[in-house]
Formats: sequence, structure tokens, C-alpha cells
Amino acid sequence: MYTSKITGLGHYVPENVVTNDDLSKLMDTNDAWIQERTGIKERRHIKKGDGNSTSIMGVKAATIALERAGLGTDAIDMIIFATLSPDMYFPGGGVEVQEMMGMRTIPALDVRNQCSGFVYAISVADQFIKTGMYKHILVIGSENHSGGLDFSDRGRSVSVIFGDGAGAAVISRNESGKGGILSTHLHSEGKHKDELSLQGPSTEYWVPQIIAENPQEDIPYYPYMNGQFVFKHAIVRFAEVIQEGLDANNLKVSDIDLLIPHQANLRISQFIQQKMKLRDEQVFNNIQKYGNTTAASIPIALTEAWEEGKIKEGDLVVLAAFGSGFTWGSAIIRW
Ligand code: UT7
Repeated sequence: MYTSKITGLGHYVPENVVTNDDLSKLMDTNDAWIQERTGIKERRHIKKGDGNSTSIMGVKAATIALERAGLGTDAIDMIIFATLSPDMYFPGGGVEVQEMMGMRTIPALDVRNQCSGFVYAISVADQFIKTGMYKHILVIGSENHSGGLDFSDRGRSVSVIFGDGAGAAVISRNESGKGGILSTHLHSEGKHKDELSLQGPSTEYWVPQIIAENPQEDIPYYPYMNGQFVFKHAIVRFAEVIQEGLDANNLKVSDIDLLIPHQANLRISQFIQQKMKLRDEQVFNNIQKYGNTTAASIPIALTEAWEEGKIKEGDLVVLAAFGSGFTWGSAIIRW
């Protein structure tokens, strides 16, 4: 049985910076509320005409990751694309990346697991590498949230949180056999699916029906989130799944060199840090600059942490995510 490791990382965010003050011009909100409740100062939004889309941002991040892995597109055996905001309802972003990057007719798989999408995606990649079926897999997390948010007062508790961007990782066979992805741990609890969801358009609730059934001022095809409910579950599940990963590898919290939590809310990260008694330098956060970019948040943060020299060979890096579904997961990596 082989093991896998991350051999290249890249990220891309649109140039357009949207501050909390910018949002307060669109809806009844303010910088103090947003910073106090979420830690977010600004986020990036695709600007109409800037040439970006979920798949295009994914390609930009992937191009950097491939270059850093020292690989050409021909070396990639599979694409796994995590997003909740694909360019098209179908097909998914994976096939768009395959076409845009001029890749061979390799498999392209989309993962629909929202905030835990990237952790699910690297877990899938890890399994394909372990069996020896593939040698190099391109994993992308990318989101265009701004295209689908409600920027009126009604949507303020959701719209101030989310931002656009993409991150990518090349997962390769670990030729040295030392370290790499030690284990991944995935979960779901579908009974809470409605608590953070976008219910239409869907095959259950198609566009003409939505429009016919709802007054213009009450359109339900924007994301809904029961914020406090999600928050309470997030802090429990994050800690649980991190501990599960450590236990599976006979490791302790003090062994963690860097925890990269999904950037849901700075308050959630701080809560986990306190609960698990982690020191400041053991936890990486960049939600202040980008907001919550769902499937893209971990690969963006991982790339930045690596670029800033915060991850060295031999370090124990823990990724953990929780989000819509609910779904959650962790990955324990020896760098
Ligand atoms: O990434 C996927 C997982 N997602 C998460 O983990 C998110 C989890 N939840 C959260 O992060 C927090 O619940 C939020 C940041 C979404 C909200 O913070 P909160 O402390 O739970 O606030 P709240 O929803 O209880 O709202 C408190 C007050 C309300 O006013 P009243 O009823 O007290 O008068 C809201 O109407 O804040 C009001 N409010 C706002 N005020 C200014 C809600 N959104 C805003 C806003 N600006 N943007």
C-alpha cells in the first residue's frame, strides 16, 4: 500500500476587495458588528467582466500548484473539484478544468460537500493514491459566492460572511514512504441539512415554481443559515474530529505544529483553540482578509501558511472542516 503527500499548493483570489464599509452601503450592517461577530475585515468578490468564474479561479490556483509540484498537466491522473457554486448546474467544475488546462481524458470528479469539500476531496485523492491506481491527483476548492448572495437587509446575516476564491493542491504518491497524509476522517448528519442550505433551484423546486409561489420581495433561492445552530454544532464537531484524527495516530494536541481550520468564523477558530488549549502559533487564520470561502478556505489558508514559511518538513499539520449537510472531517498530515 502506498501513501500520499501534498507536493504543490496554489491559490487565487479576485482583485476586487470588498470591505465591511462597502457592504454597509448595500445593507443595514456595519464594520463593528461584522468584526465583532466574525473577525472579517474584508473579502474578495468577482467583479462583472473581470474574467473570473469558479472554474477559472480553480484553473489559476491549479496552475500555480502544478508549477510548484514541478509537474506538467500530462502528469495529472485525476481532477477532484470541490465547490457549492459551480459555473453550471451541471456538468461540474472538474470537466471545465480538464478542458481549460488541456488535460488528457483523465477522470474529473466533483465533490459537493460545501465547507468540508476540500477535506473530503483530499480524502478521496488519498484513497486512489494508496491503492496505487493513480500517482498525481489535482484537488481544487473554488467558490463564487458573490454571484448568489442576497445583498439586501434580509440576507445580511449570511452575505457579510462569504467571499470568493480558489485553492489547489497536488496530491502525489509519497515515494519516500515517510510521513505524508497519515489519515483522514469524514462524517455527516443529514438531519440538519436544512440548517445551512440553498433549496432552490433544484429538481424538487424548479425556477418557474419558485417565481410563481413567492412574492418578488421574498425570494427563497438565496442561501439560508441558522447561524447560532450551526455555530453550536461547529465548535463541538471541529474539536471532536481533530481529536479523532490525533487518537487514530497516537498523537496529542501538543504534537500539532499547525491547525488549519476551515475559515468559517474567527470566533469558531478561537473557541476551538481555547477548548483544545492550543497556542496562538499552532492555529492559522486568514478569514480576516477573505471571509468564508467554503471549499476554498482550507487550500487558500494552507497555501498562505506554506508561503509564509509556517509549515516545515516534518511538521504535523491538521486540517479540519465543518459545514452544510452537516458534514465535517479532518486530515492529519506529516509534512
Ligand atoms: O462555513 C459554514 C459553517 N458556518 C458557520 O460556521 C457559521 C456559524 N454561525 C456564525 O458564524 C454566527 O452565527 C453568525 C456570524 C452568522 C451570526 O452571529 P450571531 O452572533 O449568531 O448573531 P445572530 O444571528 O444571533 O444575530 C444577532 C443580531 C440580530 O439582531 P437582534 O435580533 O438581536 O436585534 C441580527 O438581526 O444581529 C443582527 N444581525 C446583523 N446586524 C448587523 C445579523 N446580521 C447582521 C449584520 N449586521 N450583517
